[in-house]
Formats: sequence, structure tokens, C-alpha cells
Amino acid sequence: MKYTKIIGTGGFLPEKILTNRDLEQMVETTDEWITERTGIKKRHIVAAGQTTCDLAEQAARRAIESAGISPGDIDLIICATTTPDRIFPSTACLLQARLDIHGIPAFDVQAVCTGFVYALSIADKFIRTHAATCALVIGAETLSRIVDWNNRATCVLFGDGAGAVILKASDAPGILSTHLHADGAYKDLLTVPAGISENPGLLQQGKAFIAMQGNEVFKVAVNSLSRIVDETLEANQLQQSDIDWLVPHQANIRIIMATAKKLKMDMDHVVVTVQDHGNTSAASIPLALDQAVRDGRIQRDEILLLEAFGGGFTWGSALIRY
Ligand code: UT7
Repeated sequence: MKYTKIIGTGGFLPEKILTNRDLEQMVETTDEWITERTGIKKRHIVAAGQTTCDLAEQAARRAIESAGISPGDIDLIICATTTPDRIFPSTACLLQARLDIHGIPAFDVQAVCTGFVYALSIADKFIRTHAATCALVIGAETLSRIVDWNNRATCVLFGDGAGAVILKASDAPGILSTHLHADGAYKDLLTVPAGISENPGLLQQGKAFIAMQGNEVFKVAVNSLSRIVDETLEANQLQQSDIDWLVPHQANIRIIMATAKKLKMDMDHVVVTVQDHGNTSAASIPLALDQAVRDGRIQRDEILLLEAFGGGFTWGSALIRY
């Protein structure tokens, strides 16, 4: 039986930082409101011309270096993104060319904030079925390009960044389980209601912006994440106390705290980056994972619970023996 092991992590944030104080100059908001409602203090924003693939490339190179492999060892690339550089080719293909790797499968996954968990699950299945042995999985976003900077309800929430992992076939576990869900009935509560074949005019005018009914999203997110914690623990016959680290999607500190409470977990064992990164959608979990691995909090053999919720709605979890 082959398992999937994480052998390297990497993260990258663009240089420019936008603080809550900066936002006070742009829309009618306050640092106090943003901090209290979301936990966010600042977020990183790409420079003009800087793309999702630019961020993904830096994160990927750092993950490759930390894994001690060379790009030629990779035989699968999956990029989770909602903000691809182009309509096509996929950002994964653009990245493949940058890394000078040829012929191996490379594709994008679109599951919004749950994208990294979806991509991880897919890569795990490739490895377990012997279709791949060494996968590069990335979550990368330039959400600042689909934010309406005049809308205080959304512009304070999001940021740009990329995180990556290298996965390798292993005789020892590894990724213990993944659980994926979606319910398209909620398509209008969190959406960019424009694209190639629906409202293309908005896209052409540069008005394809995130629209969200925050309060409704919040409630469904807390409930769905609570259920997926139960589902994951039950499937693995584990107790709450068996989890060493919660590595959640970073949308809102209050959602993160609700999941930690469900796990009866002290916040010391929750990796929180939302204060510094904001919501970076598919990038948020691999960025948080990379940070906690690099600063020595997460140690080999510990049990990690990754969970995410986002547009679709989509939600999912991954349980990992690191
Ligand atoms: O990553 C994918 C999933 N996304 C999420 O999980 C996001 C989930 N939702 C949330 O995190 C929260 O709902 C928000 C942070 C977006 C909003 O917090 P809330 O506690 O649900 O606030 P609210 O939307 O109910 O708004 C409360 C008030 C409103 O004013 P009134 O109607 O009470 O007078 C808003 O107009 O806060 C107002 N408001 C603001 N005030 C200052 C909304 N945005 C702002 C702002 N600054 N930036």
C-alpha cells in the first residue's frame, strides 16, 4: 500500500503590504471594526503586472528546495486557483514551463477557498493509485484583482499569496484521509457573477468583483466545518485530543475559533495567519502550513487537521500524519 507524504513546503507573499490603517483612507471603515469582526490587521497585495503564476513559482521553488528534490523529479502538478493568469493555458501549465518540466500532467483545480484541500486530495489519489510518485501541489491567488476596492464589505477581507507542498509516495502514512464536499445551491451567496459565458461584459470592463452575503456565509461555514470535523475524526476513529495541530483556511478568526472550540483545542495548537495575510483563498492553508513547519511548531509524526470552506459552496478536510 502506497501512502502520500509531505516532504517539502514553501510559501511566498508579494512585497506590498496594505494595513487596516491604509484601508481607512480608502473606504469608510476602521481598524477596530476589521480587527474585531475578522482578526485581520494587514494583507499582501501584488504589484502591477505581477501574476498568480509569479507567486506560485516562488512558492514552488521554495517547496522544491525544502524537499531536497529537483524539478525533474516532479511527475504531477496541480494548482488550486480562482484567479488564474489566463483563461487558458492553466496556471499549472504556465508554471510547468517556468520550471522547465515537460510532458507530465499539469492542471488547475477551481474550488475557491477549498481549492488546496481539493488539489491535495486529487494528488493523494494519483499517488495511491501509482499514477504519480512526486507531486507539486500549489494554492496561489491574486484576489486583489477581483476585489472592488470601493466596497468596504469585501475589500478589507482579501489578500494575495501562494503556498506549495511537495508530495511523495511513501510506505508510511502520510495523508490519512481527505473529505470533500460541495453544494452549488449556495452559488449566489459568495460569487464573482461574471466570466467567459455569463456576463462577459463585466470581465471586459474590469468589473468582475467578489460579491458576498457575509453573514449567511459565516453561519453555513461554521456549521459545515463543525460537521466535517466530526466526519474526519469518525472516519479515522480518532478523538479530538489526538489532533496536534489545526491548520485551517484563514477567512475569519471567529470561524477559526469556532472550529478550535469544536475540537476542544487550545488556540496555541491552531496555526493562525489571518492577522498578517487576510483571506488568500486557496493559498491560505499551504501558507499557514509552511509558516508553522519553518518556525518549528509542526514536527514530524504529528497529526494535522486541515480544513477549508469557500465559494460554491465547497468545503473539505485533510487529516495528515506529518
Ligand atoms: O473564505 C470563504 C468564506 N468567506 C467567509 O468565510 C466570510 C464569512 N463572513 C464573515 O467573515 C463576516 O460575515 C464578515 C467579516 C464578512 C462581516 O462580519 P459580520 O459580523 O457578519 O458583519 P455584517 O456583515 O453583519 O455587518 C455588520 C455591520 C453592517 O452595518 P449595519 O447594517 O449593522 O448598520 C455593515 O454595513 O457592519 C457594516 N460593515 C462595516 N463597517 C465598517 C460591513 N463592512 C464594514 C467595514 N467597516 N469594512
